[in-house]
Amino acid sequence: NYLRHVESLAVLPSGAGKISHLNAVILGEALASEENDLVFPSEEFSRQALVPSPMKYMEMYRRSIEDPAGFWSEIASEFYWKQKWGTTVYSENLDVRKGPIKIEWFKGGITNICYNALDRNIEAGNGDKIAIYWEGNDLGQDGSLTYSSLLEKVCQLANYLKDIGVRKGDAVVIYLPMLMELPIAMLACARIGAIHSVVFAGFSADSLAQRIVDCKPKAVITCNAVRRGPKVIHLKDIVDDALAESAKSGVSVDVCLTYENQSAMNRHDTKWQKGRDIWWQDTIPEYPTTCEIEWVDAEDPLFLLYTSGSTGKPKGVLHTTGGYMIYTATTFKYAFDYKPPDIYWCTADCGWITGHSYVTYGPLLNGATVIVFEGVPSYPDPGRCWNIVDKYKVTLFYTAPTLVRSLMREGDEYVTRYSRKSLRVLGSVGEPINPSAWRWFFNIVGDSRCPISDTWWQTETGGFLITPLPGAWPQKPGSATFPFFGVQPVIVDEKGAEIEGECSGYLCIKSSWPGAFRTLYGDHERYETTYFKPFPGYYFSGDGCSRDKDGYHWLTGRVDDVINVSGHRIGTAEVESALVSHPQCAEAAVVGVEHEVKGQGIYAFVTLVDGVPYSEELRKSLTLAVRKQIGPFAAPDKIHWAPGLPKTRSGKIMRRILRKIASRQLDELGDTSTLADPNVVDQLIALSDC
Ligand code: PRX
Repeated sequence: NYLRHVESLAVLPSGAGKISHLNAVILGEALASEENDLVFPSEEFSRQALVPSPMKYMEMYRRSIEDPAGFWSEIASEFYWKQKWGTTVYSENLDVRKGPIKIEWFKGGITNICYNALDRNIEAGNGDKIAIYWEGNDLGQDGSLTYSSLLEKVCQLANYLKDIGVRKGDAVVIYLPMLMELPIAMLACARIGAIHSVVFAGFSADSLAQRIVDCKPKAVITCNAVRRGPKVIHLKDIVDDALAESAKSGVSVDVCLTYENQSAMNRHDTKWQKGRDIWWQDTIPEYPTTCEIEWVDAEDPLFLLYTSGSTGKPKGVLHTTGGYMIYTATTFKYAFDYKPPDIYWCTADCGWITGHSYVTYGPLLNGATVIVFEGVPSYPDPGRCWNIVDKYKVTLFYTAPTLVRSLMREGDEYVTRYSRKSLRVLGSVGEPINPSAWRWFFNIVGDSRCPISDTWWQTETGGFLITPLPGAWPQKPGSATFPFFGVQPVIVDEKGAEIEGECSGYLCIKSSWPGAFRTLYGDHERYETTYFKPFPGYYFSGDGCSRDKDGYHWLTGRVDDVINVSGHRIGTAEVESALVSHPQCAEAAVVGVEHEVKGQGIYAFVTLVDGVPYSEELRKSLTLAVRKQIGPFAAPDKIHWAPGLPKTRSGKIMRRILRKIASRQLDELGDTSTLADPNVVDQLIALSDC
């Protein structure tokens, strides 16, 4: 059904005449059609694109759905396998009613993702090609590594890790900013079959400790400090606290490998625990620059990445090797229309999934040149991104709507003073991009020349699931458009029934794709409960989605208790638990509220312990509690004093009402008669501006 549906779109009802010109007639510049809000790629772009038309997309999409095994094994054959997978390319059960959820791709195939990303590209003659350009926090601070030199650095670290006893299947926690050493550390783990768990270096000591306790790493890799704009952050101190904290839970880590980030902090000012702490620069360069590969099964774990869910405990999303490798490489290639001369820059940090799949693995597997940027886009001024684009002649630029919106506020001049002529494709990820930000990105940043790949996906999906393929389809500002090859999105109603045609509902995925996560670390039951039980037979994304009359997908945001702040996923329960850990907080309820720049802001209703007076100081100390327990990025934007919370008679907090109060939609509060104490609502409204 779905296939037929998508196929019918190849002759889109609205603007069908214009669609056909994608193949033949488009001349000149991309044009924006106000009439049906379609933005067409230029003929020039489409002509050179890997997927130049809806028809070509359909041909490939059809094949990927009708013969997934054939489609994906053909692609997988372009990579190196020490031993090919067995006769079964994939096996899956996505239906809880039929037994445990299981997804396997290329099982029995023996490979190594580091080998495929580095050695294979070097053997193909690309050893001297730049793999990574590194741009530091300050203007003029930079560096680069060719594929050959990157491999040497990876091998040295891999040898060291082996030397300290890290073996296949062991976990290594990486807590680093965007230095080249971050992808180096990831690849070194992959080379020896160790499981990396990168923790974003903006998480607090408590959060880091929680993750260390969960995955019990053999080593932690960090650096002494980082500069973010004018600020210096002492990362090693955070790691020290986290290690002390995890030791209390019985998890002690023997090695803390520390890179001396000289531009941020001198080693002599760094606190040091002899025996445990090791300077990277004193040790790693001593090791040999070649290192034997640990060949692993396609289904052996590659990494763990913790993400927020609707309970306080972060989920350890586990990705395996083979399917993830093929999927990130293929999605990168098609969604960015990647060609070997491209210079690619993704502004995401490797601490998030975007940095895993589309800074490190996807691009390097394609032999691409990537930029790793340590600084912040507003430093030394809001033109920094375009300065970098011009400096490295960036052709593919991938970022988040929150950044687009914040730069948009600074005015066009910061953009237009740079040439940006090299840009070819733009990308967006992390949250729905509102049409006005889309248009600014398209018109001002991309000079109305570059298609925008608005990629919808998740930590769990490993790679893009719904994304435009630049040049293939006309775009609609704000829509992630159509599924990637092999992906069957369905929209279901509350009862889990698929809805066809123009509709909105819950976004689910039917059948697996190679990059899907395989479990939640140590908690397969939670994996099944969260993702596969809500709508049996499907993977449930947690997102709402509508499909318009032309079949374009429009993501509408999370439908669970997860908030998306500047593209960072934060569980309301995590923030609530941090707030109630404060001795003067009796109860807290957190909701997301629209935020001009961040997409969503964090709005916390807080009930204090009896007799404690409201004060600005208390507000600050509550915020500090969240910063300390989670990290600065999770600090509430607003704390609303709440003498009581709206609860049903059974004690359930009615968040629907809180969301309306937070967004000042007071005439839409709905039925409040089921509340145990309806007066609470008036009290809350009265305290709105306190
Ligand atoms: O709500 C969706 C939103 O981000 C969530 C996934 O967050 P995370 O696992 O942290 O991964 C972020 C980077 C992939 C999704 O459930 N999201 C991500 N990309 C988009 C999006 N919402 C709308 N449009 C997107 N392009």
